[in-house]
Amino acid sequence: MIDQFGRTIEYLRLSVTERCTLRCAYCRADEGVCPKKEELTTDEFLRIARACACLGIRKVRVTGGEPLLRRDILAIVSGLAAIPGIAEVNMTTNAQMLQGQAQALKQAGLRRINISLDSLDADTFREMTGGDLAAVLAGIDEAIAAGLTPVRINAVLVRGKNDREVDNFIALTKDRPVDVRFIELMPIGSLGQDDSLRVGSDELLAARPYLKPVPPLQAGQVSTDYAIHGHLGRVGFISPVSHKFCAACNRIRVMSDGTLRPCLGNNLEIPLKEYLSGDDNSLTGAIRDAIYRKPVGHHFEEGFISLKNMNEIGG
Ligand code: 5AD
Ligand code: SF4
Repeated sequence: MIDQFGRTIEYLRLSVTERCTLRCAYCRADEGVCPKKEELTTDEFLRIARACACLGIRKVRVTGGEPLLRRDILAIVSGLAAIPGIAEVNMTTNAQMLQGQAQALKQAGLRRINISLDSLDADTFREMTGGDLAAVLAGIDEAIAAGLTPVRINAVLVRGKNDREVDNFIALTKDRPVDVRFIELMPIGSLGQDDSLRVGSDELLAARPYLKPVPPLQAGQVSTDYAIHGHLGRVGFISPVSHKFCAACNRIRVMSDGTLRPCLGNNLEIPLKEYLSGDDNSLTGAIRDAIYRKPVGHHFEEGFISLKNMNEIGG
């Protein structure tokens, strides 16, 4: 459906848990052990997704937290893939637990997978995320073997931490069906409040003239993409701060407790949980209203403070 600013909204990001296996510095490092919060059931997520599909949602991305922590993750994926109107179900994961699961996810109907990977150096990776690099690399191999391709690697660049690794990331695109995307640090979570840590795409591109602009693969995609002669994969830049793309935004988010957040960079939230005990019409009506009211965009440049962390919103 079309929102109040004329944008066609057809993409749902579904955060199925805010629990996570990692502690990324920019995401939820300030928190201790995750309090166990109420999460919707498989059926409740599917009911919301069906209502969204009735309103024109065509693509769903399962996010978190870490979505593979949900023991019913295969049921969620296959349930989403079976909804009439949903053409594509994808996932964003940190891949710590992907090994042994990629094939089953593919069989459940998952189309593609995005893997968050901030460093190719085991020590830096551990320092930035608390995680195990070898597990992620094995997960990437498995995802490729399972045909969840092109596998996309998302790297959030933090100046002084991992920005010296840009060319190592780009090298991943050479021989395998792997796209790499550099995400600009957003002011959501405390680390992102420090502007000096942000690495914009302009400086990275200026230093690499061999990156040739190519048209977007999908309508409404948020990255600007580049190809390299002789490389199988692409390189993309997601720059919500330095190159705001809100005017072309096509997405809404639903969090693991059933709260709909129409915009990542705006604290407007609409709880859907109360509608789950009612009829389909009232649920669809609430979502229709929320989509219509989707804010014009973020105000990161004006000191926006998000009341939710990224692990809750799902990126
Ligand atoms: N800025 C930019 N990207 C972020 N992500 C999480 N927090 C931030 C932030 N503050 C990324 C994750 C993941 C995606 C869902 O969002 O690394 O790749
Ligand atoms: Fe869309 Fe909001 Fe993100 Fe802008 S900040 S791209 S409007 S979700």
